[in-house]
Amino acid sequence: MSSTPKGFFSRLLLRKSVEQVQRETETSQLKRTLGPWNLVFLGIGCIIGAGIFVRTGNAAALHAGPAVLLSFLVAGAVCALAGLCYAELSSTLPVSGSAYTYSYTTIGEFAAWIMGALLLLEYGLAASVVAVGWGGYVVSLLGDYNIHIPVALTGPTGHHVQEAGVDVLVNGAPVTYLFNLPAFVICMLLAALLVIGVSESAKVNNVIVAIKVTVIVAFIAICGWYVIEHFDTLKANWEPFIPPASGDKGEFGWGGILRAASIVFFAYIGFEAVSTAGQEAKNPKRDMPIGIIGSLVACTAIYILVSIVMTLIVNYKTLNVPDPVAVAVDALGPQWSWFAKLVKAGAIIGLTSVVLVLMYGQTRIFYTMARDGLLPRVFATVHSKFKTPWINTVLVGLITGVAAAFFDINTLGDMTSVGTLAAFGIVCLSVIWLRRTHPEIPRGFKVPLYPVLPLLGIVSCFALIFTVETRVLVFFGWYTIAAIVLYFVYGMHNSRLYKGQEPLEGPDLPEFKEDAP
Ligand code: ALA
Repeated sequence: MSSTPKGFFSRLLLRKSVEQVQRETETSQLKRTLGPWNLVFLGIGCIIGAGIFVRTGNAAALHAGPAVLLSFLVAGAVCALAGLCYAELSSTLPVSGSAYTYSYTTIGEFAAWIMGALLLLEYGLAASVVAVGWGGYVVSLLGDYNIHIPVALTGPTGHHVQEAGVDVLVNGAPVTYLFNLPAFVICMLLAALLVIGVSESAKVNNVIVAIKVTVIVAFIAICGWYVIEHFDTLKANWEPFIPPASGDKGEFGWGGILRAASIVFFAYIGFEAVSTAGQEAKNPKRDMPIGIIGSLVACTAIYILVSIVMTLIVNYKTLNVPDPVAVAVDALGPQWSWFAKLVKAGAIIGLTSVVLVLMYGQTRIFYTMARDGLLPRVFATVHSKFKTPWINTVLVGLITGVAAAFFDINTLGDMTSVGTLAAFGIVCLSVIWLRRTHPEIPRGFKVPLYPVLPLLGIVSCFALIFTVETRVLVFFGWYTIAAIVLYFVYGMHNSRLYKGQEPLEGPDLPEFKEDAP
């Protein structure tokens, strides 16, 4: 246990020792069963979600046009830099855990606290984004069967109902959404499932991942074939490939491609899940980088193919809708309406599992922070029968449900991207920090071209942050200030590490992961 620090800065940099974190996790006797392919599939399962099914449409329609595929390349490259840093940390610090634990063991408690706040954006708000995407596909699929939820209950509070980008008027007045009921309901239902412990049902999750990937691959195959058949007429949709900049920040041109990169960056969130399987990899030195980079490369290829066919089949301007993939399928003609319904059903099933995994991740971060004394004890309360952190889970359900019900997907998505980019920046910094403070610890995997790649990771994460709208940056600024104040008011005084105490006793909760396929 670290001794009580003297100065203010040493207090902020108070670290958990590697031995301590190992002691905390030594109860989990995980077997080394995962090979490189298992890890790649694990990554793909966590990655594909609302980013490709929903947000690509907005990124293409309002920011990058057909060049959204370049945005995927940029976002994928930024994630690869962070991914290499995750691979080094997971092979150096043999602890199962998230970026929160990495920060606590490298830079120290203050950075860990900030990381906790950023992960609330990465997991909690991302769950809201995916829930809103889920709602969009549900409303669309029900509409195909003439089942209509009152329109005022299907969108973000205060926004006007639109059709093809134009306000819908009733008696000359625009119609306004009250809130997004389907998105709220899915968050509450999944919170209930997490309370009773559905996370252990790994086989169901495997099936869902398979459905989601099959739908995307079928979309690429069928629409790709259609594109090849009709290329002479469809190629007009790619003229111009990079629409000229409109003059407004982030609207088309090269600035728009970077702005769209910060949007589609969302589509890659989740690859870090591979690093949490570090203790189960058969040969972590070789397999972790393969798992992380391999799943990123596979998803980049899938995303680029989807954006190519999407922007060729329909004009990018028509894609600012809640279900852009379905819009592209609809354009194939009425004979393909069965496939459009299948795509929507597959998206709904796939997005359900992503919301579940993200909410699960958020509850575990709260749980770990509460055991460290950085959050109130109630977050670590485990249900006597279900053995799940149930109060914490209900709270996560409410936070994600309320955010999904009242805010629009673009604002929520931007906040998630900004928070996650900042978290990835800190992960890259942790690699540099650990190399300087603990050069002696053996490293299973080392980031090549050190320190260039981690530094490039930090710079590129922060560069993408500054492409988002000013109001999102302002929110992020206030959010960070609030987190810092809370640390000085609460976390700093209740930290068990500071008081020289072991983390709160509590069971190791079941892990959420797919079986090795
Ligand atoms: N990458 C995940 C998604 O796109 C979060 O839904």
